[in-house]
Amino acid sequence: MKEESGIFMPWDEQYSIGIGLVDRQHKELLRLTNMLHSACREGSTAAQGAFQSTVHALVDYVQVHFATEEKLMRQFRFTGMEDHLNEHREFVRTVLDKVRVFQKGELFVPLAFTGFLKEWIIGHIARADKKLGTYIVGVVRREAMARRPPDAT
Ligand SMILES: [Fe+2]
Repeated sequence: MKEESGIFMPWDEQYSIGIGLVDRQHKELLRLTNMLHSACREGSTAAQGAFQSTVHALVDYVQVHFATEEKLMRQFRFTGMEDHLNEHREFVRTVLDKVRVFQKGELFVPLAFTGFLKEWIIGHIARADKKLGTYIVGVVRREAMARRPPDAT
């Protein structure tokens, strides 16, 4: 992969789902996860503080991002909405559980946390979000075709 770039989660054009707004938000999620990863590799007190504030920024951003996707699903009457939203809910539940463990000062492995984030985000984009992107692009294309006057071939 692209590990040689030194970035934990580099953006790859193959992650694009064809919807600019969602792609931009995915890039931001990757950026926050990369920040989190660098903070937990340092181990200093300052890095611990950075880790904490980045975790909160990430949790907040995830909610904003999922709300955007949900809005699009409703707007375009996405047929796979329930399954997709369940994946989001499950992810939020898992992340919040892990954050609670971290806040209570219980056994928490930061690199395992960022590893989990990376795997989930990439897997979710590759399967669920791509499906959503393909669906929306298809609807937009069909609508554009339907609006074309009959002689505009
Ligand atoms: Fe999603």
